Amino acid sequence: MKSQRRRLLVTGGAGFIGANFVHYWRHHHPTDELVVLDALTYAGNRMNLADLESAQGLEFIHGDIVDQPLAERLIREREIDTVAHFAAESHVDRSIVGPDQFITTNVLGTHSLLKACRKVWIEEKKQHGHRFHHISTDEVYGSLEPDQPAFTEDSPYAPNSPYSASKAASDHLVRAYFHTYGLQVTTTNCSNNYGPYHFPEKLIPLMIVNALHGKPLPVYGDGRNVRDWLYVTDHCAAIDLVLSAGTPGTTYNVGGDCERDNLTLIGLLCDLLDDAFVRRRDLCRRFRDAPAACGGKSADLIAFVKDRPGHDRRYAIDSSLIRDELGFVPKVDLERGLRSTIEWYLANEAWWRAVMSGAYRDWVARNYAAR
Ligand code: NAD
Ligand code: DAU
Repeated sequence: MKSQRRRLLVTGGAGFIGANFVHYWRHHHPTDELVVLDALTYAGNRMNLADLESAQGLEFIHGDIVDQPLAERLIREREIDTVAHFAAESHVDRSIVGPDQFITTNVLGTHSLLKACRKVWIEEKKQHGHRFHHISTDEVYGSLEPDQPAFTEDSPYAPNSPYSASKAASDHLVRAYFHTYGLQVTTTNCSNNYGPYHFPEKLIPLMIVNALHGKPLPVYGDGRNVRDWLYVTDHCAAIDLVLSAGTPGTTYNVGGDCERDNLTLIGLLCDLLDDAFVRRRDLCRRFRDAPAACGGKSADLIAFVKDRPGHDRRYAIDSSLIRDELGFVPKVDLERGLRSTIEWYLANEAWWRAVMSGAYRDWVARNYAAR
């Protein structure tokens, strides 16, 4: 499959990881055709693809993955041979406030796509070398104690939030379509990503934007929850390897081998941001409310707030299967990744101001006003 020209349907390609994947793919596989299907929820932005949309070989379709006839038509008419399925509701806090949309998009939406692929690829026998790749999360495995070994592909599913439960359900559907209908599927369960285009409701970009405004950095609970961080282009490279050489029917865990508790991570992020202000005096004029603008410390903004209900204590991923079978090794270490993420947010102020206005601002006002 590796050398042939492919036609990919990328769902959720206007979101954080999806947009990074589209950029990655155009760079590494410039002759492949890409069709992006995205509903443009608050988390999806065409701006994320603006630099690519005029190029040949990329088509954007504004549509919903729940719409099975639309997905069927795209797969049939664009002769799609590969689906890279990113589209989802992805924020745990939102799933706690309003779980229904997570069931609709993550469970029903994934099932609609699977049905569409089965219809065109198997029942109409339109594509022999097809692949449905499902992008999933380490959160399906639940929470680890400090001394427990990292999650492997054989770890039992134990999702604790409506988000992770909906992703777990979608993983099971993907698996079932392989065993029951012979759909050629692969799944990656990945740890926490960070990098450009990350919506500033998630930990790292939220901390950057708040620190630039001199606003509190809200740390849930005692701040000792542990996540395994992976720079987003490394995740894209892992998906590329699985699409090129992964075994159909297989799940691969993907992680950064980079466990940090939230306070340690935020401390490093704050130090790197303060360092950027020391090196670049223009930042002091642009962000006058940032502590670093007047020689202070961003970390002084840390504020402990009420914990997230059902907050998973620790995630850690054992990536040995994808490393041993496909040669995956993360390339970007945490400090370099955080530095380049900070640089991206400093260079793209218009982007984060735009995505944090309108519907997003209204939602925060409704749901976080009491905090
Ligand atoms: P995101 O919230 O930034 O983007 C989701 C995208 O999906 C948006 O563009 C949105 O408009 C689109 N979308 C939502 N509902 C849709 C629908 N019904 N039809 C079509 N498009 C729809 O999410 P992300 O962080 O980029 O995550 C992408 C995928 O990776 C998700 O499946 C998520 O579960 C998984 N994942 C994320 C992480 C992470 O750290 N962010 C880690 C592991 C796995
Ligand atoms: O593990 C993979 C998952 O990582 C993905 O499947 C999810 O889509 C993605 O959102 C992410 O989930 P998390 O819940 O781990 O990410 P989040 O950025 O929301 O939170 C990271 C940690 O930081 C978590 O322990 C909660 C904490 N946190 C988060 C926010 C937003 C805070 O302490 N304060 C905050 O304001």
